[in-house]
Amino acid sequence: MSDSCHKAYITTPIYYVNDIAHIGHAYTTIIADTLARYSRMSGLDTYFLTGTDEHGQKIEEAAKSRGKTTQAYADEISATFKNLWDDFDISYDKFIRTTDEDHKIGVQKAFSQMHKKGDVYKDTYKGHYCISCETFFPTIQLVDDEFCPECGKSTTIVEEESYFFKLSAYEDQLLKYYEDNPEFILPKSKRNEVIRFVEGGLQDLSITRTSFDWGVKLPTEFNDPKHVMYVWLDALMNYLTALGYGGDEEKMDQWPARVQLIGKDILRFHAIYWPAFLMSIDMPLPKHIAAHGWWTRDGEKMSKSKGNVVNPKEVADAYGLDNFRYFMLREVPFGGDGDFSQKALMDRINSDLGNDLGNLLNRVIGMSGKYFEGNVHSSNVAQYYQTELDEVHASLDLLEPLLYDMQIHRYLEELWRPLTVANRAIDKYEPWNLMKNGKEEEAMALNGLIVAILAKVSVMLYPVMPAVCTKISNALCFTIDTESWKSLVKDRALLAPFNLKKIDPLFPRIEAPLLTQIEPIDTTEPVKKKEKEVKKESDATEGIALIGIDQFFQTSLKVGTVVAAEEVPKSKKLLLLQVDVGEEKPRQVVAGIKEWYSAEDMLGTQVSVVANLKPAKLMGLKSEGMLLAAKDEDGLCMIRPEKPKKSGTPIG
Ligand code: MSP
Repeated sequence: MSDSCHKAYITTPIYYVNDIAHIGHAYTTIIADTLARYSRMSGLDTYFLTGTDEHGQKIEEAAKSRGKTTQAYADEISATFKNLWDDFDISYDKFIRTTDEDHKIGVQKAFSQMHKKGDVYKDTYKGHYCISCETFFPTIQLVDDEFCPECGKSTTIVEEESYFFKLSAYEDQLLKYYEDNPEFILPKSKRNEVIRFVEGGLQDLSITRTSFDWGVKLPTEFNDPKHVMYVWLDALMNYLTALGYGGDEEKMDQWPARVQLIGKDILRFHAIYWPAFLMSIDMPLPKHIAAHGWWTRDGEKMSKSKGNVVNPKEVADAYGLDNFRYFMLREVPFGGDGDFSQKALMDRINSDLGNDLGNLLNRVIGMSGKYFEGNVHSSNVAQYYQTELDEVHASLDLLEPLLYDMQIHRYLEELWRPLTVANRAIDKYEPWNLMKNGKEEEAMALNGLIVAILAKVSVMLYPVMPAVCTKISNALCFTIDTESWKSLVKDRALLAPFNLKKIDPLFPRIEAPLLTQIEPIDTTEPVKKKEKEVKKESDATEGIALIGIDQFFQTSLKVGTVVAAEEVPKSKKLLLLQVDVGEEKPRQVVAGIKEWYSAEDMLGTQVSVVANLKPAKLMGLKSEGMLLAAKDEDGLCMIRPEKPKKSGTPIG
């Protein structure tokens, strides 16, 4: 097994081939790539795995609906994922496909091992199956006795002979493991969810199917050819078969994985089934299962049927791959949900990247060129600017633990502090005045300080923005590698004397959205199904039905500014308002607030607007939104932002 201190096996989920890659897939992969790049840079023996999940009923049906053989269809879509990751320069060491022969052999070995352990038995499965989620659900969890509690699609009743895995036997062992290893599931908030689920009782898991045959067959010794493996058993095993489990075992010393990255929707499979399978085959458990949140688009859940799925390639081509990577990792606290909008992306590029980083580089290149012909040395930096250096190093010391704790947004936030120190130092010490007053040595030291800060920041930013940071390091005449990481970051060294090179601005300002429309990808649902809106957690508390955060985010709430207001003729209750919610034109809102507010009261004020309601007509007037207000026996008052905010600012 691995000497876990020096090895770092990092995995993404393997992607279903019933769909083309979208921003959610790109997010998982970019985080994993960032971790892998950092591990490599810091000298760890790193192995980074990604790939595609190609078996199961869902894939079989997707191929059929397109008139293709399942293998040809899987080949085609798997290649689109691989090509995208290659275009994105994702530094994976292996791209696994569950249709690979050696993978299938490994899955069969695991099945035999589980059977030998006494964890597999044969019975009949009777119940509901959601093909879309490839999951069995007990009737009690269904919505209206039929619909999937996860995705809302209609489930299929399955009654067939099946092999079962004794998941129930692992309840105590799992709970003990979570207890003894509080960092197994990250972020910690997700850990509690899993513990509650397991404490609620685990049912044995059906791990084979007989009603279709696009899957891994059982090992020959079972002599039961009509069964294929349950797709999640097959898929989860990829993390081991990729290292050679069941075959040449060449890379097995990479196990256990350091971080297995997943989205929150597949936490149960990775934090419950997967460790139970591993316990059954006597393998150690991964160090961290890290679950990130869900991306929405302009406040709405992305879905193929809405046609609002964001194509990551298009965004990266327009805005720059590294900028897109930075945005995704900086914008959302790991584990939380995030909203994609071009506005938010532009703000990050113009402000964090352009103002804070790009301008600093331009300033130091300009200064050193003007005063020292680009020849910079850092001999006197400590003499004049030790306080600044200390501040910078204190921030840098915090970074690695933040990364391993999956607080990537905090990592980037903290990494920006040294840039603030540098920008502040220029403003405070005014190199132009130092030069004017004959303090050349001090001015040179200031240049050395700024360059040192840029060098250190570019090393630590490299895992997130590899191409941009390589350009910065070229301009500063050094190479980003384990050696420079160690000397500049760990040993707090400064750069050797060098000649600063001029480069083109890295982050030209973006004034307007670069994409008029982000093309939806493949909006044709292969199989049209009856869908039911999922009403989760209908166990009401004091009459209030509980909803999940995803459902809450289906409501788009925005700050609006009332730019015109008038009374609706002949109406006692209604005002006609024009409300700017950051769009091209103000929205017309008919609001029943006249008893409490006059048109003058409302004009110029800010309000909270429900921005994604279907338009309605009130007294013949179109209303394109609703204002939030609170009403009790004392009357009604508007719910407004505490401080002025830009029109269109999302609320949530
Ligand atoms: N094939 C399974 C995983 C098997 S791993 C042994 C699967 N595939 S998936 O293609 O549906 O999803 C893969 C990953 O993409 C998951 O981590 C999922 O969370 C992520 N995302 C899919 N849509 C997403 C968003 N809208 N936002 C963020 N990530 C989401 O599940």
